[in-house]
Amino acid sequence: MPDSPPVGRIVRGDVLEVLPAWPEGCVDLVFADPPFNIRYQYDKYRDDLPPHEYLAWTEKWVDACLRVLAPAGTFWIAIGDEYAAEIRVLMRRRAALRNWVIWRYTFGQCCKGKFNRAHAHLFYFVKDRRHFTFNADAARVPSDRQLKYADLRANPKGKLPDDVWTYSRVCGTFKERVGWHPCQMPVAILRRIITACSKPKDLVLDPFAGSGTTLVAAAQLGRRWVGVELSEQYAAQAEQRADRADQEPVSVVNEPPAGAEPCVGDEPPVPAAGRRRRTRRAAGREGPGLFQSRDRQGAEPLPFTDTGPGGAL
Ligand SMILES: C[S@@+](CC[C@H](N)C(=O)[O-])C[C@H]1O[C@@H](n2cnc3c(N)ncnc32)[C@H](O)[C@@H]1O
Repeated sequence: MPDSPPVGRIVRGDVLEVLPAWPEGCVDLVFADPPFNIRYQYDKYRDDLPPHEYLAWTEKWVDACLRVLAPAGTFWIAIGDEYAAEIRVLMRRRAALRNWVIWRYTFGQCCKGKFNRAHAHLFYFVKDRRHFTFNADAARVPSDRQLKYADLRANPKGKLPDDVWTYSRVCGTFKERVGWHPCQMPVAILRRIITACSKPKDLVLDPFAGSGTTLVAAAQLGRRWVGVELSEQYAAQAEQRADRADQEPVSVVNEPPAGAEPCVGDEPPVPAAGRRRRTRRAAGREGPGLFQSRDRQGAEPLPFTDTGPGGAL
């Protein structure tokens, strides 16, 4: 008899060992943000597998997630440029793609000899292309017709967001930043996904729980949640964070409504003249919080204000 997933817990362990013990079809929504294989520094996992090994591993965890996903379930995968194409091909035989969302982030990489990278990929798959949850009205945002043109033909309920989502990364100075995990995603992104793609009380799984972002968003939105995380330290802290989801600082990193000017939230911009130059040594002392990110660089602080729950006005 397979174990039931421990709802409201983060299981400490390897996703490939944990998920096979659960019954088939027991979760409604999976959000997976795996290590990107870009030599990122986690406390336990080494993020530098040879590409063929990384892809073989990816195939295994994808199949483990699909096995526990309900027939009408939804599967989101976050990934960087390095392996986005391979994941798209890998999934072709396994699930139906609904959207290939680009997360366009501020606080992106500052390159010296090529264009700055300022995006990651968010794949939105469903197991069954005809049966799935999509709460269109809950996901709507104000349209340009409403905000810019006062167009009487505008749908008063707003429009569905485009497939390019602008959210700042969670930088070291943001209240939302936990400080003990190197690549925390913004809760606002997860709120949008969970709001649109699940129902209250559905079970949301994050197989790479990290700092617990998915689980915080799920708890805030009245969904049940369960996570898996290799690092005992991350798992313990993320579980505490999810248990206190109602006290999570409201972030400033949400998307501005269409047509609205970006404005600064809890981190006032430093006037250019008064900006202190950070030395390499100072950056090191501050630890991974401020400028370390997946692309290891920070940029100018211009976070956006929150538009409300999940950006869904
Ligand atoms: C990209 S991070 C997830 C970040 C998360 N989305 C957040 O917002 O905090 C990937 C996480 O997967 C964990 N991990 C790596 N290999 C794993 C495995 N085999 N099973 C479970 N977790 C693993 C790492 O420790 C890391 O915390």
